[in-house]
Amino acid sequence: VRPDLVLEAKAWVRGAFQDVEIGLDHEAGKILAIKRNLPGTPRTRFPGKLLVPSGVDLHVHLRDPGSPAKEDFRSGTLGAALGGVGTVLDMPNTDPVVDRLSRFEEKRDRVASKACVDWGLWSTFTPQTTRHLDLAMQSVGVKLYLAPTTGIPEAGTAQDLSQRLLFAAKADRLVALHAETPPTRPPATLVEHDASRPAQGEVAAIEAAARAAPADAAVHVCHATTAQAARAASKAGWSAGATPHHLLLANDATSLGAFAKVNPPLRPVAERDGLWHAFAGGEVPILESDHAPHTREEKGRPFTEAPAGVPGVETMLPLLLHEARTRGLDAGRVLEAACAAPGRLLGLPKGQIEPGYDADFFAYDPRAPRKLRGSDLQSRCGWTPFEGREAIVVAAHYLHGDLVVEGGRFVGRAGRGRMVRAQSPPKRRVPEGAA
Ligand code: DOR
Ligand code: ZN
Repeated sequence: VRPDLVLEAKAWVRGAFQDVEIGLDHEAGKILAIKRNLPGTPRTRFPGKLLVPSGVDLHVHLRDPGSPAKEDFRSGTLGAALGGVGTVLDMPNTDPVVDRLSRFEEKRDRVASKACVDWGLWSTFTPQTTRHLDLAMQSVGVKLYLAPTTGIPEAGTAQDLSQRLLFAAKADRLVALHAETPPTRPPATLVEHDASRPAQGEVAAIEAAARAAPADAAVHVCHATTAQAARAASKAGWSAGATPHHLLLANDATSLGAFAKVNPPLRPVAERDGLWHAFAGGEVPILESDHAPHTREEKGRPFTEAPAGVPGVETMLPLLLHEARTRGLDAGRVLEAACAAPGRLLGLPKGQIEPGYDADFFAYDPRAPRKLRGSDLQSRCGWTPFEGREAIVVAAHYLHGDLVVEGGRFVGRAGRGRMVRAQSPPKRRVPEGAA
């Protein structure tokens, strides 16, 4: 087969930036071949830019159905496209919660026509769930909450946890774990919020889940806030993710107040820097946005009443790629964590520029950052905790070989994003020396 489009670029291929020619099968939406020189026309060049795989963000809350003032599937996936994210996996704490098959199907049918990038849906188990296996098998995986949070009033008992981990393993589905101990008292500041859902509790929750899990459970520990939490996950043979906010913000962000309230909380500066260090050293395999928009009005309420969560899907890759550059970290570390590793974890042919993979990638100029403004972003919430920070700009973005962002503007169509099918997760890696 001859490529029907050839891209000439300095691209991130097999772990390094290389001058290559990438041939696409546009019909199939796939990468056909990568060589130093490839015949074929038409050809596109990206002078001064780097070409990198689209992000696979396994953790977003797009609020559809339920809270259109915060976000919907169209605005959320539009932000993803402009932020270099080509695939989003949406969490089940929508309104209503996706804890049964009928709700899964309703949500799927509702959001499909709004998707500007590829997408998949997580489900969750609650006391109301019936037919656990059918629900799990339809979804990309099962989110399990160990502490109450937005839309999840109760986390369930230890017994519920082992039962739910067993159901997910039986269904051969990945579990996304929200590991926290339930809060002790209502916090009034960021520092109190950190103390009320402490870092030690997060580690303890991961360890308890590791004890409760069947040996073949495949678990991803979401939003690890400290290096210790990431290590506890890895000790269990599980993956862990870090969010941009836990990597870049700390509980000293007093001027943000409740706008920086998230679950799990922002930690002290030293813990945050320790998490960055672990991330830079490859000890935190995955980067996930935990994009969780809330309206300004809600976030402006007294700290105790304000909901937890910050937006992030549109700013994750732009911020982290720029931050890596200014801190002397190889961009490849960010791309491995935001693209390749989540693609592998989910068993999707995504996140790498490689023959046979989906033709999802974006181009940016690492030397031309821009200041982030909440008012420039697509999210309905209209604000960002990263206001004024420098970030790279996604100049062009291709999804299955279709140009969806050109000159920094969305040129694709809602509904063109494809639903990703559920896959069997990689089996739990039992670490050496463990029973
Ligand atoms: O801060 C958070 N926001 N943590 C969660 O667990 C849920 C999320 C949301 O949906 O708002
Ligand atoms: Zn979340």
